[in-house]
Amino acid sequence: MTRVLVAYASERGGTAEIADWIGAALRRAGVEADVRPAGEVPELDGYDAVVVGGALYEGRWHREARRFVRHHAGDLAHRPVWLFSSGPLDHTAREHAIDPVPGVAKFAGRLDARGHATFGGRLTSDAKGFLASKIAKRMSGDYRDREQVAEWATGIARELRRVAV
Ligand SMILES: Cc1cc2nc3c(=O)[nH]c(=O)nc-3n(C[C@H](O)[C@H](O)[C@H](O)COP(=O)(O)O)c2cc1C
Repeated sequence: MTRVLVAYASERGGTAEIADWIGAALRRAGVEADVRPAGEVPELDGYDAVVVGGALYEGRWHREARRFVRHHAGDLAHRPVWLFSSGPLDHTAREHAIDPVPGVAKFAGRLDARGHATFGGRLTSDAKGFLASKIAKRMSGDYRDREQVAEWATGIARELRRVAV
């Protein structure tokens, strides 16, 4: 059975939950999936494909996602890779495809990633931190779309089946 690693980098839990949704959708589609924090994956042995996701902060992917890709660049080069980002605090990610931020686009190019998706984000009204609490006053809410995430993950499972044939 194909085994996929879903590695995520999340500050406030929203992206971690998206990674869980991806893992669940992959399993429903008959793919074995492990969902792990990007900083806690020592090696990629045993994984046939990798999905890497990070929260967006100030126009950049979460540091742990960047670090993961740099650290495992050699191993990722030999595997099908998908990337995702999260995300805008409005409904735009549901309305149309959003390009990766420049740093993530660069990684996608280097890794020859099979795909990238930007999903909506979440910020609670009681978010801690100087900037976060300021932003939360105007834009708090949950803009993640579980169905959209599951659909994307099902597409990955489909593609993996095609590659395996
Ligand atoms: C300080 C701060 C900066 C942010 N910058 C961006 C950004 O540049 N682009 C974006 O799409 N979302 C941005 N967001 C929204 C977050 O990406 C969103 O809240 C996301 O769901 C956080 O994921 P996490 O809960 O996994 O940490 C920002 C949020 C905060 C609090």
